[in-house]
Amino acid sequence: MGEVILTMKDIDKSFPGVHALDHVNFEVRKGEVHALMGENGAGKSTLMKVLTGIYTKDSGSIEYEGREIEFKGAREAQDAGVVIVHQELNMLGHLTVAQNIFIGREFKKGIKIDDKKMNEEAAKLFERLHIDIDPTATMSDLTVGKQQMCEIAKAISHDAKVIIFDEPSAALTEAEIEELFKIIRDLREQQLGIVYISHRMDEIKVITDRVTVMRDGGYVGTLITADCTKDDIINMMVGRVIYEDPKTQSMVAKDAPVVLKVEHLNAGRMVQDVSFELRKGEILGFSGLMGAGRTETARAIFGADPKQSGDIYINGEKVEINSPQDAVKNGIGYLSEDRKRFGIVVQKTVAENSTMATMENFMKGLFINKRKERAAAQDYVDQLATKTPSVEQLVVNLSGGNQQKVVIAKWLVRDCDILIFDEPTRGIDVGAKNEIYKLMNRLASEGKSIIMISSEMTEILRMSDRIVVMCEGKKTGEIDISEATQENIMNMATREIG
Ligand SMILES: Nc1ncnc2c1ncn2[C@@H]1O[C@H](COP(=O)(O)OP(=O)(O)OP(=O)(O)O)[C@@H](O)[C@H]1O
Ligand SMILES: [Mg+2]
Repeated sequence: MGEVILTMKDIDKSFPGVHALDHVNFEVRKGEVHALMGENGAGKSTLMKVLTGIYTKDSGSIEYEGREIEFKGAREAQDAGVVIVHQELNMLGHLTVAQNIFIGREFKKGIKIDDKKMNEEAAKLFERLHIDIDPTATMSDLTVGKQQMCEIAKAISHDAKVIIFDEPSAALTEAEIEELFKIIRDLREQQLGIVYISHRMDEIKVITDRVTVMRDGGYVGTLITADCTKDDIINMMVGRVIYEDPKTQSMVAKDAPVVLKVEHLNAGRMVQDVSFELRKGEILGFSGLMGAGRTETARAIFGADPKQSGDIYINGEKVEINSPQDAVKNGIGYLSEDRKRFGIVVQKTVAENSTMATMENFMKGLFINKRKERAAAQDYVDQLATKTPSVEQLVVNLSGGNQQKVVIAKWLVRDCDILIFDEPTRGIDVGAKNEIYKLMNRLASEGKSIIMISSEMTEILRMSDRIVVMCEGKKTGEIDISEATQENIMNMATREIG
C-alpha cells in the first residue's frame, strides 16, 4: 500500500426522511483495494456518489491528492481521475458498444462521428483487458454480464487514479469475475486506489487489502482484510453471526405431483432440447455458467421469448404459452435477473410497483383502492425488511438491494403457484439474503414450486432440492441435492454433451 490519495472525513448527508450518511470517514491509499461493506441501504453507494459529485454533501470534507475538493458532478470527478462504475447499468441499449464507451467524448472526422475509429479504440481496450466483446454489437443484445464488462471497460478507459466499483460482480459469472480480478490486480499494480463494493463475502478475502464497514449510515470501522475473518466482517455489518448451511436432503414429499413439465423445448441457440420436471413444493436449482441458457429457458417458458418447438404441461395438462400474460394466467411468475429492464418502474412508488402484477385485485370499479394497495405493499416491506421511509417512496430512491426486494414483493403479491426466480439475491446483503431464503423455504413448504436460477454455488447448494445443470444451451445434468457437490456441478456446467 502506498500513500493516502483520498480522505473523506465526517461526511453527512440527508434525504427527506432518511439520514443516509452520519459522519462517515473513509480513506483510500495508492495501490490498495479497499472494500466498502454494509447491509442494503447502509449508505455505500451514497458515500461514493458524494465523492464523485453526483450528490452534494451536507457537511464534512474531502481531500484528494493533498487538496480539499468538491466535485460538481461525475464529469468533473472523471476529469480529475476519480471514476465510478455504478451498481445499476447505465448504458444506452440502442447504441453500439463502442458508442456507449465513448459517449460524450466521441472521435470525430470533421463534424461527423468517426465510428470506425471508435470501434478500433474499443477493440484495443477490450484486447488490453482480455474481454471478448464485439465493439459494433448493439448494447441491448448483450447479456447483463457483458454489459457490466462494458461499464468496467469504459471506466478504465478514462485516465483514472481512483476507481470505484459498486457491486461489479453481481451480474458476472465466475469466469468473468476471474477476469475482473485480473484487471483489478493490474490496476493495483499501477498504484491506483480502488474501492470495491460487494455483498459476496468470499470475494472480499480474495481481492481486498482493507475493509471499511458501514451500518445504518454510520461508520463502524476499518480493518486489514488479512487480519480478520468473514464472520468478523459480518458481525460488524449486522451485529450478529449468520450461518450458511447447505441442504443435505430434498424436502419434497416422495409422492409430490409434477406441477410443471417441460419437454424438448427449443428456443434459439441458447435453448436446445431442454426437458425437465418441477414438483409441488420443490425448489429446483438451475446452475451453470453465465450464458449457459438458463435465463433464456426461463424466458421461453414464461412466453417472453418465442419458442420453436416443445411442449409445456401444467398439472398434467398441455398449455399454450405465447406471452407473459398467458404464463401469468397459468399461474407462473417470473422474477427477472435484470430488475431495471423487466422488474420495476423506478419512477413509481414502492406501493405501485408491489401491486403492478396484480392490479385487478386492487381495483374498486375504475379506481385503484389505494388503501388496500398500501396495506399489501407494507406487508411485504415488513416481511422482507425493505428499507424505505414509506411505501410512498419512489423506487428510484431506494438502494440497489432494496429495489430487488420490491421486485420480489411484486410476484409474491401475485400468489403464483410456480415461481421462477432468476438470480433472486443478486446485490442483496447477507442478512436480507437469509430473509429471502427463509421466505422461499416457507413458500415451498406451503406447496409453491420454485425454479431458482443462480450463479452462486453456495446458494444452489443451500436452497435446492434438486439441481438442473446447463451448458451452452443444453441440459448437461440433473442431480439430487443429497448427491450434489460443488465439483460435480462444475463438471456438468463445463461439459458439453454430444
Ligand atoms: N436520491 C435519494 N433520495 C432519497 N433517499 C435516498 C436517495 N439515495 C439513497 N437514498 C437512501 O439512502 C440510504 C442509503 O442508500 P444507498 O444506496 O447508499 O445504500 P447502499 O449501502 O448502497 O445499499 P445496497 O447494498 O442495497 O446498494 C437508503 O435508505 C436509501 O433509500
Ligand atoms: Mg448500493
